[in-house]
Amino acid sequence: MKATLCIYLLLLCPVAVADVRAADTTGRDLAIACTGCHGTDGRSEGAIPPIASVPKDKFVALMKAFRDGSRPATVMHQHARGLSDQQIIAIGEYFASRSPR
Ligand code: HEC
Repeated sequence: MKATLCIYLLLLCPVAVADVRAADTTGRDLAIACTGCHGTDGRSEGAIPPIASVPKDKFVALMKAFRDGSRPATVMHQHARGLSDQQIIAIGEYFASRSPR
């Protein structure tokens, strides 16, 4: 019984470590799709609103409103529709951690 538990924990460990690493990079990786319009690190200038340093909760609410169509948009409905809740949160964490300038 003890040996089984030990082996089980040993098997779980690398999975847990791999998950943490994935969470660290996913937001940044997904954000690459946004920076073409919103600027490097979300610091756009001009007509497209900057998204660097937007608080995560506000960001998530904006993206969900784009995704369900309740917030008017020209292009953002398309970009939000393909994203899961988890992905929106990960991107939100990434942009919230970027300084505005
Ligand atoms: C093709 C250009 C383009 C791309 C790519 C793009 N956006 Fe946008 N984004 C816009 C425009 C334009 C708006 C203003 C709303 C609209 O017209 O759709 C906007 C608005 C937003 C807003 C609301 C900002 C505010 O303060 O009102 C957020 C948040 C946002 N985008 C996040 C993202 C994220 C996250 C991605 C990547 C998954 C992304 N955008 C990709 C053009 C783009």
